[in-house]
Amino acid sequence: MTDPLLTAALAAREFACAPYSKFKVGAALEDSKGGVHTGCNVENATYGLTVCAERVAVFKAISEGVRQFRRVAVAADTDNLTPPCGACRQILWEFCGDVEIILVNPRGKTETYQLKDLFPKPFDVSYL
Ligand code: THU
Repeated sequence: MTDPLLTAALAAREFACAPYSKFKVGAALEDSKGGVHTGCNVENATYGLTVCAERVAVFKAISEGVRQFRRVAVAADTDNLTPPCGACRQILWEFCGDVEIILVNPRGKTETYQLKDLFPKPFDVSYL
């Protein structure tokens, strides 16, 4: 794994707090200056208050004043690589626009998408 963004997403996955699903996910965002912002999924006994890795990473970065992103990496241990859920696609669109999304697993398999292809008709500020 030579891309540091993918390494960061895989490393963040190790911090996942997923006692209920046991499904660990990591995310890493690359900002416009090359900085990396990571997140992992954080579950809750109510289940519904669980927050996905992607949203943790976005909100961490936003809360530190970062507003422009180039790439997003999502890491999970599945052979059929795990994409962002619908809620995360909406949040990624809001803050990252049509960003590159790289899926990765611990065996080094990767797939790359543009967010507009995963989320083709988003609701956003253009409708307000
Ligand atoms: N999960 C993520 O963190 N990101 C995704 O893109 C898919 C799902 C988490 C939520 C929950 O903690 C676990 O994976 C199982 O759904």
